[in-house]
Amino acid sequence: MPTQVPEQACTEHCRYVNYSSDLEIVKDPCVNIAIHHRELPSELDHFLNIFISKDFEKFSADVSLDNFEELFENHFAEFRSISPLAYDLLKEDIYELIKLFIKTFNVSSTRVMFGIVDKNMCTKFHVDMYDYRMLCTYKGLGTCWIKGDKDMEVFNQRLLSDKPFDEDEIQQVKESDVVILKGGLAPNSKIGGIVHKSPHIEGSSQNRRVLLRIDGNSLPVMFGR
Ligand SMILES: [Fe+2]
Repeated sequence: MPTQVPEQACTEHCRYVNYSSDLEIVKDPCVNIAIHHRELPSELDHFLNIFISKDFEKFSADVSLDNFEELFENHFAEFRSISPLAYDLLKEDIYELIKLFIKTFNVSSTRVMFGIVDKNMCTKFHVDMYDYRMLCTYKGLGTCWIKGDKDMEVFNQRLLSDKPFDEDEIQQVKESDVVILKGGLAPNSKIGGIVHKSPHIEGSSQNRRVLLRIDGNSLPVMFGR
């Protein structure tokens, strides 16, 4: 009779990775969130400081690698003259993240939102009903998430109890970092999706964000960011 190997418990649902290509670790059944910390080039950072102070319509579109550049340039043509170099760096950075998302999740296109956020969006901690979502807060406060418990079963029981989270349980993604969140519809998940919420920005000194959101185009997206 074959010996049964005991199933391994999930002990760490967040992973920090050194390379953006390693963000695919989020597909591991025990991982809920993968974060790539990075520093943006100073030219791009300076450009984003100008960008965040402008009012313009959000870029929101179904995007493939074939149509992204044209859609982006049509939408943001007026910003090129500020700094053609930084403008191209931003366009290239977003393109590379879309490419990474498409490759990682084997989708043909994505739903992309890029623009200014100046309202509190999802103010309560929640799990979203998508499979995976990529976010990058290029400027401003990043997404908040709950670090959980070493024993995810204990943590899941805790979620059901509706007890508020302590400050030291709340983590926050840093400006310019790239993060992939696992949602409640991800296949093979053992732990049910990352508990997260949007940062509180209204009335704070950092009351605007420049946010990029990338979703796969195969599932309806039901909730915010
Ligand atoms: Fe959300």
